[in-house]
Amino acid sequence: MVDQQKIKPLAENGFFADARGSRMPPPHTVARGELRNDEQFYTGKIGHELAANFPMPVTRELLERGQQRFEIYCALCHGRSGEGNGMIVQRGFPQPPSLHEQRLRDAPPGHFVDVITNGYGVMYSYASRISAQDRWAITAYIRALQLSQNAKTSDAGLTGAEELPSR
Ligand code: HEC
Repeated sequence: MVDQQKIKPLAENGFFADARGSRMPPPHTVARGELRNDEQFYTGKIGHELAANFPMPVTRELLERGQQRFEIYCALCHGRSGEGNGMIVQRGFPQPPSLHEQRLRDAPPGHFVDVITNGYGVMYSYASRISAQDRWAITAYIRALQLSQNAKTSDAGLTGAEELPSR
């Protein structure tokens, strides 16, 4: 086997006209599992617009996954409730804005996916560590956190009468 004719990776080889042992993939080749044809899912954008909707149903399972990922990857700076006072910030990293700012409450879900994907200001990108599916899960959980700090009693399905206990 040592002496037989073969192609060594990246070595010169006279068999091909261009003498490259390693062949270039044919144009438009996509590696298995790497087809990224769903722009909204992978970038949080549709054209230049931030996506206003989730590309999947927001289920309890998605939220729980998002909570777990948020607490692993985001809470250390943003704090578990999203106020922006995580331990890394208490040790001197620049403080992020609270996720409960009106501007971020009003931001479409695509904004959070975009920030996780590309980073934002001094916050670095998480694209290599958090899958596209998990970016949406985290975004769904941020929405739940935002609601948790800004909910009306009626959001809990209670009627106005129960809103003010009579005592
Ligand atoms: C190492 C600390 C750190 C971690 C970890 C971190 N962030 Fe940030 N984040 C920041 C800082 C600092 C800013 C403010 C950046 C600036 O304005 O320059 C920020 C800004 C943001 C913003 C606000 C963008 C805007 O429009 O103002 C969002 C949303 C956000 N981060 C989401 C996340 C999410 C989601 C995660 C977890 C996947 C995360 N961050 C992880 C530090 C961090």
